[in-house]
Amino acid sequence: MKSIIEQLLTTTIAQLKSAEIIPADLAPRLQIDRTKDKSHGDFATNLAMMMAKPAGKNPRELAQLIIEHLPQNSAISDVAIAGPGFINFFVNPDYLAEQIKALLADEHAGVTVATEPQTIVVDYSAPNVAKEMAVHHIRSTVIGDAVTRTLEFLGHKVVRANHIGDWGTQFGMLIAYLEKVQNEQAADMELSDLEAFYREAKKHYDDDAEFAERARNYVVKLQGGDEYCLKMWRKLVDITMVQNQNNYDRLNVSLSNDDVMGESLYNPMLPNIVEDLLGQGLAVEDDGAIVVFLEEFKGKDGEAMGVIIRKRDGGYLYTTTDIACAKYRVETLNADRVLYFIDSRQAMHLQQAWSIARKAGYVGDHVSLEHCAFGMMLGKDGKPFKTRSGGTVKMVDLLDEAQERATALIAEKSNDLNEQERSTVASAVAMGAVKYADLSKNRTTDYIFDWDNMLTFEGNTAPYLQYAYTRIQSIFRKADITPEQLQGTLNLTEAAEQALAQKLTQLSDVVNNVAAKSSPHLLCTYLFELSGQFMSFYEACPVNKDGVSANERNSRLILCGATAKVLKTGLSLLGIATLERM
Ligand code: ARG
Repeated sequence: MKSIIEQLLTTTIAQLKSAEIIPADLAPRLQIDRTKDKSHGDFATNLAMMMAKPAGKNPRELAQLIIEHLPQNSAISDVAIAGPGFINFFVNPDYLAEQIKALLADEHAGVTVATEPQTIVVDYSAPNVAKEMAVHHIRSTVIGDAVTRTLEFLGHKVVRANHIGDWGTQFGMLIAYLEKVQNEQAADMELSDLEAFYREAKKHYDDDAEFAERARNYVVKLQGGDEYCLKMWRKLVDITMVQNQNNYDRLNVSLSNDDVMGESLYNPMLPNIVEDLLGQGLAVEDDGAIVVFLEEFKGKDGEAMGVIIRKRDGGYLYTTTDIACAKYRVETLNADRVLYFIDSRQAMHLQQAWSIARKAGYVGDHVSLEHCAFGMMLGKDGKPFKTRSGGTVKMVDLLDEAQERATALIAEKSNDLNEQERSTVASAVAMGAVKYADLSKNRTTDYIFDWDNMLTFEGNTAPYLQYAYTRIQSIFRKADITPEQLQGTLNLTEAAEQALAQKLTQLSDVVNNVAAKSSPHLLCTYLFELSGQFMSFYEACPVNKDGVSANERNSRLILCGATAKVLKTGLSLLGIATLERM
């Protein structure tokens, strides 16, 4: 709607210019707002007031001239001047009804998809091998996946890049420890507790000189491509990723093994990168290390900051890998846009790697590199989220607890479901709640993880939205018809019907905004408001009550169907399941 009004006003401004009613060099910024009081129209603009002074006219007089020059459009039923010179637009209910019917027939639920699809690489999740997924990986995984789904829905080619931490000197000690464990346990061991495994490996490395020596030796061998070491390394990666995949599947996260592009992938490219940066004169030797000095980052002393890309001992760094990685994503994956879902503490690291990659010509100006940063996940006490004993909260424990709590919640509420159904509902509610709690907050700020706030049917939560959807399904069951069978006309006569219809047509703008800003919370807010709008509609306009005429009932069911479709579409973009019954 907004864009239609925008177009009409743009045409009008051009006409007013050629009629010399306003100066030719006037370029007003169009502002079109939704009105609060619908009796004054649905949209309003202050355009006449903004142009009055330069045009040398009084605002109401200019508003009248604008209206006279405004082209006819079937979307607008009336235009009026209000107050000091506002122009109010009334949306034509018949036009709105057509939009809703089109939305129902459209596989994209009325969302305008990309006219020029891009190749977009999304770097998300990125856990580390032989470690439990930490809290920041949960955030990255959940938010990154929602944006990934949204971009794909809009028709972009999306490459999921799971940049796992699968390389580095720690693998010497991990291989040595894996070997020890395997020797001691005849059977193939189960590494169920990665955190403990890592801790033990480190302890041996610190306490046992012989072990440490072996570990260092393995690092060298691994880097030299030694077959045994590679095999042991692979095993560590595989064990970790099987566990992570389990979490992804439970959470309905669309990552698979094929999306793994870990640090090890870039390792063979690093020597050439360093040579090239030296050759280009961007890097210099400094006390045995290879360093790039960046003028745009000043250190404490005000001097250009030195970023080490190769250590004195020949080792490479996290930054070197990210330089190679950016290059690869542009040159090999042909990315137009790369989104990095990484916590905000790594901002400086990314800026440095990208700055070097751009200066070296690996990433051209046409490619957009975006740090989709997020804040920390905090406990109820406002401190970083930890277990009672201060350890890392394991993803699997978090999901188990969600499942337990949701099972209790559902047992209270859904007693007409059988055992099997209840467990399906509990899983959908549990995973939905955990994801939605994260997704619904503006990602840039820290967020407080609170079981009680997320696992409730009230407020801006997944269960609330899932329930709104299910409620519509039960309206259809009661009416003994399916949304697909709906025919006949949609008459938007009541204010609550028009308000709901208008809200439904906003999905397109919202989804496109999520894609542009990599911010799924915009979609959450919208779905929450939509559900509220639906509840008001349903209160004012009953469907299955006596006294509702067949036509009225049919018309309202069309609105119910469209609402269900928008809710389902929106939730599926967030990776959250909807249920027919709960
Ligand atoms: N593995 C890293 C961590 O645990 C995140 C990697 C993010 N991606 C990247 N290209 N640096 O913090």
